[in-house]
Formats: sequence, C-alpha cells, structure tokens
Amino acid sequence: MTDTLAPPLADFIRGLPKAELHLHIEGSLEPEQMFAFARRNRVALPFRTVEEVRAAYAFTNLQDFLDIYYQGAQVLRTEEDFHDLALAYFRRLAADGGVHAEIFFDPQTHTDRGIPFRVVADGLLAGMVAAKDELGVTSHLILCYLRHLDEESAFATLKAAEPYLDRIKGVGLDSSEVGNPPSKFARVFQASRERGLRLVAHAGEEGPPDYVWQALDILGVDRLDHGNRALEDEALTRRLVDQGTTLTVCPLSNLKLCVVPSLEAHPLRRMLDLGLKATVNADDPAYFGGYLLDNYVRVAAALGLDRAQLARLARNSITGSFLDEAAQAPHLARLRQIDPYRD
Ligand code: ADE
Ligand code: ZN
Repeated sequence: MTDTLAPPLADFIRGLPKAELHLHIEGSLEPEQMFAFARRNRVALPFRTVEEVRAAYAFTNLQDFLDIYYQGAQVLRTEEDFHDLALAYFRRLAADGGVHAEIFFDPQTHTDRGIPFRVVADGLLAGMVAAKDELGVTSHLILCYLRHLDEESAFATLKAAEPYLDRIKGVGLDSSEVGNPPSKFARVFQASRERGLRLVAHAGEEGPPDYVWQALDILGVDRLDHGNRALEDEALTRRLVDQGTTLTVCPLSNLKLCVVPSLEAHPLRRMLDLGLKATVNADDPAYFGGYLLDNYVRVAAALGLDRAQLARLARNSITGSFLDEAAQAPHLARLRQIDPYRD
C-alpha cells in the first residue's frame, strides 16, 4: 500500500480491530440522554438545555469533573436506563470499529442513593447481551470501588456483587485519587482476588508515582489505568516495561482534566518509544468530547503517530484485554492481515 492510495487516517484506524479497556459507562451519559432519563424518571436537573450542560463541562482538574459526573448519574434509576445507556455506548463503539470493551461501573454511586445493586447490574448485563446480539461486540464488566469512600463501603459492595460474580470480570479503583492511595484498599482487593476477579486500578492520573508502585506491589493489579505519572520514575517505568503491564491511556480525558497542557504534549508517543504497552481509550466520552476513534485520531494527529504505531496500539488493546487466547485470535489475525504492519 503506498501512501497516496492509503485510506485517510480515520478510515485506517476505524478498520483496525480495537478493544476499549478504560470506559466508565456512567461517563457515556450524553446530555441528550440525561434530559431523556430525567424526564422519564421525573428527576429535576439544574440545567435547562443541552447547551447549558455542555457549557458546564469546563474542568481544571479531576475533582471538578467528578462533581458533575456524580450529579449526572442521578438520572439513572431503572434497569431500562442502564440497559439503554450501555447499548447506546456499544453502538458508538461498533461504529468506531471497536470489537470488544471492558466497561467500568460505579455501584456505590447508585446504591448510596437507594438504587439496588441488582438494578444496575441486571440493566448493564442486559445491554451487554444486546450488544453482542445486535453488533457482535463482546464485553466484560468491571466493578469499580470509589476510593473517596471507605474500605467498609467497598467490602459491602463486594458482598452485594456476590450473586453476580460469575458475570463480573474484575474490580477497579476510581474517583478522587490524591489522598486516597491504593494501600487503603489492600484488603478488599485481596478478597476480590480470592473470588477469582481480575484487578485493575486508576493510578498516576493525578497521583504520584508512589501510587503506581502501590497499585503494582500492594494491590497486585493485572493492568494499570492511566499511569501517566509513572514516567517521572525511571525504575518504575523499567518495571512496567519489563512486566509488560498494559496501561489504559486516555488522551482526551487527560486534555480535558488538565493532566496535559495540550495533546501535542501528551506522553503517548514517549510511552510507545520506551516500550510501554500503552492503549488508547475514551474514559468518560460524553464529558471529554470524544469516543474511541476520536481519541485515536486526535492523538495520532497531534503526535504524528504512523500506521505501524496505530496498529501497535490496537494490538496492545486486544492482547491487554481479559479475553482468553481463543477469543483474541480472530482479532489478532485481522490485525496481521493489515499490511505492511504485521508482527
Ligand atoms: N471516574 C470516572 N472517570 C474517572 C477518572 N478519569 N479518574 C478517576 N475516576 C473516574
Ligand atoms: Zn477512568
């Protein structure tokens, strides 16, 4: 394939089989859906129009965003809401050439306001089944503990999840990072591991490299969410390279939350050059201005990533997923066919 005959970059990226490994399903709640669910559930909103909502999405840090994100989630009340939210996300993912997603959900955001765990889980699981039937997109569910809450609340969440553990792939750790180190959740992660769950955690988004060390050494995570600040520590970077730890990097999220001053300054290219197993993800696309394909296209344009690097990112997303080898195989075979970038 010569460059002149090559499809435009967005088409090339869309054609790469990709998995999304860092996506908060509550963060896919578009303002239009927020109004629709609020109307259907008779929930009052502090906004009058979609434009007003979007205008409020100007963040200077993670906490600014979290405050509005938890407020938005209050319109989600019924199993149907969670089903519809998930299916709408999967339709967007399929349109972007996504083949698989491992979606986070925050049960405590819902149970703390009286929505039973089963309403959330049943709705999301039904949306995941519908996505497989309608779109052929596969998915896993990852339960996130909110790190600004205490260990006892995390243990109560694990207990509520007990009847669903055959349909939940893993647990994660999200919400306000600074001041809530991974060590706070050592025991609930240990208990989660003993129940056969895979482990991931947000670390190094705003928090220091020490939190990344803790996620590796105290929680024993299988995969790291964000990890940007690991680059400040050479020994830690070497450890991540040597272990082949997958990093779920979120370029537009990092831009919107001022983790980076511009996409041109984003460390993704440096991560790849260092041999880190980076992937590209949307995090909370309704709040950060772009779904999976937008994240790839915008960061590729800003950093001048070539097609081999883009294929590498897609490959990392498949091999970094919790799909078993047999399920990864057809996606990897498709990637190998995309000449001339075979591995
Ligand atoms: N919850 C939703 N998005 C998050 C993020 N980017 N960091 C921490 N917690 C989150
Ligand atoms: Zn996140």
